[in-house]
Order: sequence, then C-alpha cells, then structure tokens
Amino acid sequence: MSLPNPLPELESGPLPYAEALRLAQLGSHHIVPDDDFSAITADSDEGSYVSLTQSVIDYQYEKLPNDEKEQNRLDLFHHVFRMLLNGDLFTAPVADRLRAPVGPGMRRPRVLDLGTGTGIWAIDVADEFPNADVVANDLSPIQPQNVPTNVRFEVDDVESQWPRSRVFDFIHCRTLGGAISDWSALYKQAYDNLAPGGWFEATEVRMRMDSDKDIDWEKTTIHYMTRLFIHALQLIGKPAEVAHLHRGWMIQAGFTNVTERLERIPSSPWPKDKKLKELGYYHMHNLVDAMDSYGLAPLTRILGMERVEAEVLIAAARAEIRNRKNHYYSVV
Ligand SMILES: C[S@@+](CC[C@H](N)C(=O)[O-])C[C@H]1O[C@@H](n2cnc3c(N)ncnc32)[C@H](O)[C@@H]1O
Repeated sequence: MSLPNPLPELESGPLPYAEALRLAQLGSHHIVPDDDFSAITADSDEGSYVSLTQSVIDYQYEKLPNDEKEQNRLDLFHHVFRMLLNGDLFTAPVADRLRAPVGPGMRRPRVLDLGTGTGIWAIDVADEFPNADVVANDLSPIQPQNVPTNVRFEVDDVESQWPRSRVFDFIHCRTLGGAISDWSALYKQAYDNLAPGGWFEATEVRMRMDSDKDIDWEKTTIHYMTRLFIHALQLIGKPAEVAHLHRGWMIQAGFTNVTERLERIPSSPWPKDKKLKELGYYHMHNLVDAMDSYGLAPLTRILGMERVEAEVLIAAARAEIRNRKNHYYSVV
C-alpha cells in the first residue's frame, strides 16, 4: 500500500532545503552545506562565534527523552498505539510462539525491543507472555526497576554491532525515525539475529499531517514546521520521515511475508466516533508535547533559528493541531 499524499517535495529535494536556508539566515546565521557540518557556523558580531558542530553534538544529548514530561508522553503514546490495535501490542502473527508452553530442555521464546524508551511496551509484553524473555535496550537508562522478572533492560546503541546469534523470535521497534543513521544496517542486523521463522515489526508515524479536508498545506504552519524539522534531521544524518521507507528496507534485508498496515490517528478530538474522538484527544496531547520535546533543538541548534522565532513557529503549529476544524490526522 502506498501512503496518501506522498512526499514529492521531499523526494525532489530543493524546496525544504531552500526554506531551511532562508530560515537559517534569519538572525545572521548561515548554512554552507558540508558533509561534516564543520562549515556550518553562526556569524558573530561580538565574539559570540558558535560552531554548529558542537551544537549538533549537544543536540544528540538534548534529544534523549530523559525528562519526566517526555517519559509521560511516551507512555501516553503507548496507550494510543494499544487503542489503535484494540488492546494488542503488535500485529505480527507471533503470539502463539511467545505463548507456547516451554518443556524441559526447550528454550524460552525471546523478544527484543529496540530503543525501548520508558520500556512500557517491553513490560507489557513480558506481563502478557510470561513464557517469553524480553530484552529491551536504549541509549538512556530511564526504565523503571520494579518490573516483571522476564524483562531485562540494557543500555546499548542499536547501531553498534550486535552479536549474530539468531536468538530472537520477535524483534520490535517503534518510533525510531529521527534516531537512526543507517536503517539498512539495522534491518540487516535484525535479520541476522532472528531465529528461523522469527518476526520483525516496525511502527512509525508519518511526520507530515494529513486531513480529510482539502487543505492547502503550503499555507499551514504545521506543514512548514514539519518540513524544517525533517530537513534539520536530514542534515545531521538521522532521517525523520521514514515511515514510507520501512517496507523497502525490510525487503532489501531479505525478509519475506512483508506486510504494511496503515492507520489514521486524529490529531485532536474532532471525529464524531467515540473511540476516534478519544484517540484524537490523547494524540493531541502527544503531538503538542512532542513539539516541545523535539521541536526546539532542531530548529535552533541545527538550523540556527533564534529561540524566540522557533517558539513562535511551534506555538502556531500547536494551535493548528488543536484546532478541531482542521480535521488533521497522523498516518501510522
Ligand atoms: C521516540 S522514543 C521511542 C521509545 C519507544 N520505542 C516507544 O515506542 O515508546 C525513541 C527512543 O530511542 C532511543 N534511541 C535513540 N537512538 C538510539 C540508539 N542508537 N540506540 C538505542 N536507543 C536509541 C531514545 O533514547 C528514545 O528512548
């Protein structure tokens, strides 16, 4: 299946880049495209010269969801995903395998959650499948300690080399767009680490909003801000708009039986349907908080916008999200 409203500007390139340049030039910053960012600098009047190289490095840390607000957001989004799946934790047909009784001499089924965040998905899987062992990793050690005995958290970089031991029955990742530099390599590692007949599932939210109304996206702030955000992360080599690419990466890595499922989540409580309205209410809070957690740093540190300018842009985008008349939704 292909996504509605595909991404022509992104694929053809120049428009978001031009916009980023224009914005970056506001506040006396300029961007010179360069692979290692060493040429990306801010002009200085009074010795306040800043190398964006360091800013980009700082940004990597700033972006980690280690504050309480971001953790609450991740837990709320987990709830949204479960509602979307009618209470399920995944769609891959792997539940029977995880639930199967483990006889003497048999190994327990194993699950791996990549970039687990607060670990809420891994904990729920461990609870629901007590015969399975769940390993969940993240760069940030923000997971709780009081967890089921069959879940283990590890601090790890999923982009580093994994042991190729083909031990997992199910590998899962959710909303890692913007965090990964080399998705093909990640998929290859996942493939190499699955037991025969094992499953991989990736869930990603499309960055660009959609609507069931005929919106002139070029006139919306949300579209403008999203394009800047996508462009900023592209500049640091961590593509954010990747939802539509997972299927290809999966097939390229050698996976078979690949299916893609697309869902819509309303971005505010605009639908009449009760369940969709509730979903929209939660997702609105998720989006608004995500803009606070993830929006500022790319716009200021990577694109060089003034903080106040970025805040004004984000506030306008937030208002658009909250406006029920827009009938916006996210594609997942
Ligand atoms: C948006 S959160 C998603 C968390 C979780 N998957 C969920 O759905 O609730 C992205 C997570 O990926 C983690 N992350 C980013 N880059 C990573 C890496 N290279 N290795 C491991 N974790 C990473 C971040 O620390 C963050 O917790």
